[in-house]
Amino acid sequence: MEMTPDRWTYTCRYLEETFGRSDRHLLGLRDRALAAGLPDIAVTADVGRLLHLLASTTAGRLGIEVGTLGGFSGIWIARGLPRGRLITIERDDKHADFALAQFEGAGVAGQIELRRGAALPVLEALGHELSPGTVDFAFLDADKVEYPAYWALLRPLIAKGGLLVADNVLGSGSWWVDQVDHPARKATDTLNRTLAEDPEFDAVAVPLREGLLIARRRD
Ligand code: SAH
Ligand code: DHB
Ligand code: MG
Repeated sequence: MEMTPDRWTYTCRYLEETFGRSDRHLLGLRDRALAAGLPDIAVTADVGRLLHLLASTTAGRLGIEVGTLGGFSGIWIARGLPRGRLITIERDDKHADFALAQFEGAGVAGQIELRRGAALPVLEALGHELSPGTVDFAFLDADKVEYPAYWALLRPLIAKGGLLVADNVLGSGSWWVDQVDHPARKATDTLNRTLAEDPEFDAVAVPLREGLLIARRRD
């Protein structure tokens, strides 16, 4: 069966409708974010459920998210770390302010610390603050061109059995993986290959929505 654009659109909608069951906080969040003028680029609820599921398979002590936007993915991740905490990084104050209100509404504010600023210096500071091997779950979703640099700073922090998940490793709004010269494609390809070849990690990408890289540090 040929994979036509229409068939792919149907497939994505089917997956979201089938696996994206959400509570009222998450259901209303997208509409509130659009009304507040935030870009419509949060993960879909099926991806949210995958983040939740994956986070909940780890030791669940500490998560780091790079790219908060309106807090949609952060709420899913925090709920997957019920006894842990999540540090989420956002450089845009408008997004950060909106997200903090959503964390309150969803009842996860006590678990989440939002760090404002550009991801690279914030990650560098976290590298000094946190002990190596103490992060159980990391999610990359900010500037795709910076993914390899995020990973260089995060790698020492990932615990044995801990997971790295990265969104948009096959494409996003303005490019797809077949556009081999796009800077975001080059950077996500570098991340994909780096993880695929890292002897300390098992890694694979799943073509859900715009592609998610999933990697686990071996015990
Ligand atoms: N993870 C969110 C969506 C994130 S969209 C969700 O699924 O709900 C990407 C976010 O990353 C935007 O809010 C953008 O402002 C932020 N961002 C982009 N580049 C950044 C950088 N270099 N440092 C920090 N945040 C950045
Ligand atoms: C864009 C960013 C994302 O993280 C995403 O999942 C989709 C689109 C964007 O910047 O267009
Ligand atoms: Mg994304």
